[in-house]
Amino acid sequence: MTQREAREPSRDRLVVERVGDGRRFWTETVGTFPPVYGERWIEREGRSFRGWSPSRSKLAAALDVGWEGPIPQEGETWLYLGAATGTTASHVADLVGPKGAVYVVEKSPRPFQKLLVLAERWPNLLPILADARSLEEEPYPPRMVDGLYADLPQPDQVDIVLRSARRFLRERGTVLMALKTASMGRDLSAPLHLEQAERHLGRFLTLERTARLAPWHRGHYFIGGEARPGFENLDLAASPPPGSPEPEPRSPHPRREGRGRGPRSDRESGRWVPRPARHGRSA
Ligand SMILES: C[S@@+](CC[C@H](N)C(=O)[O-])C[C@H]1O[C@@H](n2cnc3c(N)ncnc32)[C@H](O)[C@@H]1O
Repeated sequence: MTQREAREPSRDRLVVERVGDGRRFWTETVGTFPPVYGERWIEREGRSFRGWSPSRSKLAAALDVGWEGPIPQEGETWLYLGAATGTTASHVADLVGPKGAVYVVEKSPRPFQKLLVLAERWPNLLPILADARSLEEEPYPPRMVDGLYADLPQPDQVDIVLRSARRFLRERGTVLMALKTASMGRDLSAPLHLEQAERHLGRFLTLERTARLAPWHRGHYFIGGEARPGFENLDLAASPPPGSPEPEPRSPHPRREGRGRGPRSDRESGRWVPRPARHGRSA
């Protein structure tokens, strides 16, 4: 039995509200007021929720366009690479709840200062000032994690993620990545960068269906899945890293362009409803 199966069923900390044809996302907050990035705070049934904006967070955008793969769950520990000032990381911390933890890595001192201040109000947010490329040499995070989230606009973002995952991810853990193809070089088109990234990551992960994050975040794809058994022993250098020339260029995959269920047509404006997909709960 894996760690995830052995854990008690999670109390969902994500709520999806239908508003007209659209949806609003909320996370039950672990932190205390004031808002992190101007998001709304509301009280429901004695619990505090924060609005989660798809335009500000790629994970919220992924949910909005129909990502059905895993997301952070209550009680889990995550490693978050490229946290900036903590917009999405604070929601990840909300999702894992007070019994979970999120190690947030940021290499730039200025946003890191804000992360430090934020961590005073989000006790399960644990900032690490480091370059994710050299994280393997750091003493933190001090334990294996259930999931790894990455939002690194770097040419070698896939490689960074795989090396960190091999070092810190528990057996059959989850990897989630906001892939920015524009940062991966101009030698290949966005669909070819994506195809290479999927092929490379797919050797190590059982990939979910990739979500295209437009119109929320143009040039970004949400990609990830569960680590394959024996992942930690695989030779990452054995396959060519994304960015190497593609022998047979092809046009964008039409299935990918049309991905996502999009907003649901539910006119019950303002009502809290169960999310019928894999994530979220009724409230
Ligand atoms: C797009 S921003 C992240 C936004 C954030 N994930 C969110 O949704 O709120 C990318 C961040 O990654 C950081 N970054 C880029 N390369 C990095 C690296 N090699 N190691 C650590 N942080 C890195 C940048 O300094 C920047 O703050």
